Amino acid sequence: MDTQQVSKLKKVGLACLMACVATAVSANDRDKAKRIHDRIAGTPPTTATLDAMEALVTAGQPLQAANIATQAPSFYNVTLKNMAVPWTNRDQTVFAPLNDYVATFIGMVRDDHPFNEALSADLTYTVNGVTPAASSSNNTHYENAENNAVNLFTALTPALQSSVQGIPPAATAGFITSRAASEAFFIDGTNRAMFRFTMMNHMCRDMEQVMDTSLPPDMIRQDVSRSPGGDSRIFLNNCIGCHSGMDPLSRAFAYYDFDNGSADAPGSMRLVYTPGTVQAKYFNNNTNFAPGFITPDDQWENRWRKGQNSVLEWSGSLPGSGTGAKSMGEELANSKAFAQCQVEKVFKTVCFRAPGNLADRTEVRDMTTRFMNNGYKLKQVFAEAAVHCMGD
Ligand code: HEC
Repeated sequence: MDTQQVSKLKKVGLACLMACVATAVSANDRDKAKRIHDRIAGTPPTTATLDAMEALVTAGQPLQAANIATQAPSFYNVTLKNMAVPWTNRDQTVFAPLNDYVATFIGMVRDDHPFNEALSADLTYTVNGVTPAASSSNNTHYENAENNAVNLFTALTPALQSSVQGIPPAATAGFITSRAASEAFFIDGTNRAMFRFTMMNHMCRDMEQVMDTSLPPDMIRQDVSRSPGGDSRIFLNNCIGCHSGMDPLSRAFAYYDFDNGSADAPGSMRLVYTPGTVQAKYFNNNTNFAPGFITPDDQWENRWRKGQNSVLEWSGSLPGSGTGAKSMGEELANSKAFAQCQVEKVFKTVCFRAPGNLADRTEVRDMTTRFMNNGYKLKQVFAEAAVHCMGD
């Protein structure tokens, strides 16, 4: 029992047995309040904050207590940042600098921006008072903000991504067209990496988990051999499983590239968007299977709406096909799998474990429903998860 609790006991005195029982209960509430704060904010609360949170827990309002913790600057500068940084590089490491992708995530949470727009919005966040200004060609703005330990809770400011990135508003697709994601996932390759990492980070599934070998191969690009090693069974049992669904979806990225230059010439180190002109990378190794699909434009199709991947619960109010990254991002972010993925990631961040037992899974299901029905406010999910785990 700490000194505060002892002094409380003294105040109550021994005259009233009921009051003593109540004090014992409130000691437990103090632990719960502290746990809520520690897990959301990543730092211990001040005594005054803890007192206020404890009172709310005791009053049967633990969610309000959690809401206090989500106002702590360290929730933004530490918890949210560390959660998002691994989504923004191929190694999935947290040891990477702050960038526009992470800043946009933090800002969206702070402002209760509907999170189902995360993969489609014309939105970025910059940091007030930090020089140089955010640039399409480097990450210096964000690195300086981090090096100067700027309070992101107060300093993040929403801006149009199209303005900062210098692309048309219709070409923006939230995190997908952030500078950090472009540099990590549109660089070189065939733009399938952007699709795979978006699936991993925001649908909580790597490609093996969505393989479906029953779908038609007609949109698989020319670079995928139909008889790898001379054996067509490998194509039919393996390659087709990912590429039949992924290639029609990653066609949405046909006009994007990250210009990292060549051995001879330096690049602009920025996202490049070429409306009407499919990037050359879509025709890499086009003799591997010449009759394969030749990408004419950025029209995408979600063939996973049928078959085993219908369990991702795609939105019934979207058509399942479209043009470009923005509508494809909407397709992903309005699925139930996306919403549940966000909830599970928050659960792990706040509870320090994956949802395990029946109570956890029931809570994840209910939090997902509330998240989808109440404007996709992710901050609320943090508060709810912290309350769920406050007794751990
Ligand atoms: C589990 C899912 C999956 C399976 C199965 C799969 N691929 Fe892929 N493939 C991918 C992904 C994801 C990429 C993008 C990789 C990247 O750029 O990070 C890719 C990229 C490619 C590329 C582009 C070149 C490159 O390496 O980026 C070719 C060619 C290719 N795959 C051929 C095949 C062939 C042939 C098979 C069967 C032997 C196959 N793939 C099986 C998911 C898969």
